[in-house]
Amino acid sequence: MTSQASAPSKVILFGEHFVVHGVKAILASINKRVKISSKKIEEKSVIVKSNIGSIKIPLHESVKNIRTPFRPFFFIVKHSLNEFGFNHGVEVLIESGVPVGVGLGSSSSCCVAAAASISGLFTKFSRDKILELAINAEKTIFPNSSGADCTVCTFGGLIEYDKKNGFKKIESQPNFFLVIANSGKTHSTTKTVAKVMKFKEGNDSVFADLCKKESQLVEEAIFSLKQNDLQAMGKSMNENQKYLEQIGVSNKKLDSMINLAQKTAYGAKLTGAGDGGCIIALTDETNLDKTMKNFEGMYECFSTKIDYAGLDTF
Ligand code: PMV
Repeated sequence: MTSQASAPSKVILFGEHFVVHGVKAILASINKRVKISSKKIEEKSVIVKSNIGSIKIPLHESVKNIRTPFRPFFFIVKHSLNEFGFNHGVEVLIESGVPVGVGLGSSSSCCVAAAASISGLFTKFSRDKILELAINAEKTIFPNSSGADCTVCTFGGLIEYDKKNGFKKIESQPNFFLVIANSGKTHSTTKTVAKVMKFKEGNDSVFADLCKKESQLVEEAIFSLKQNDLQAMGKSMNENQKYLEQIGVSNKKLDSMINLAQKTAYGAKLTGAGDGGCIIALTDETNLDKTMKNFEGMYECFSTKIDYAGLDTF
């Protein structure tokens, strides 16, 4: 028997970095998916096969000794074998359409799809239970993960998230295209978060003021999302980008990509940690092609829509 699941990836529409300091962020899942198939095997090992490499790990190995990209899968298998009293192995096949390490939530969508696919070999968990397993798996590589990425990859659509109140689904379905352009440089979220912390320490009142402005911007953005007002949303994205530049997480390459996007899109900003990774540009049918053309021959670029389906099992 094969158990299959697929989960979308994500972008941060508004509020990255400021969210670490208590401000609300808005996340959206996008229709670039990871598909995972699992099957039980006789051999007492965990086999993970993917387009970034493969590994075979004996079941008796301990989770903390496993190389990072494979650790969450091993954790999920071990956890499931324990819970369901099965003492043979599992083979996991990952087929991903999500670029790795560029802020699109590749590891979160892998954790969600893997939690669903592997647990599906033994039982049918609720989405909440799958999410809990996925977050615990992600914490084996990112101990401070807020769980926001896994949440949006599980339920799909749009969510708002802040540290104090947690997640809330934004129950509207705006209709737009996001053009995503990849700078080709992977980034380290831990390093950029530390850099922002340093900026905050040296610029206390500037940072406090930016957090206040960002909070207001996020509320305006939620309003425009609900109205599907792309002009207003684009303006807010441009404004958000300025705040991100002020805290030092953009760079020359990202700035020039954003300038390219802003020629034709309603608005553009970096998404995720910055210092590399991707930018997002807001478009509809009228300016999608033109915006894609701005990047032609220079950067990997694709168009996406919000994925309202979330996790799928089959
Ligand atoms: O680039 P990503 O997907 O790891 O996003 C990081 C988002 C931050 O706000 C910078 C950090 C965080 O934990 O929210």
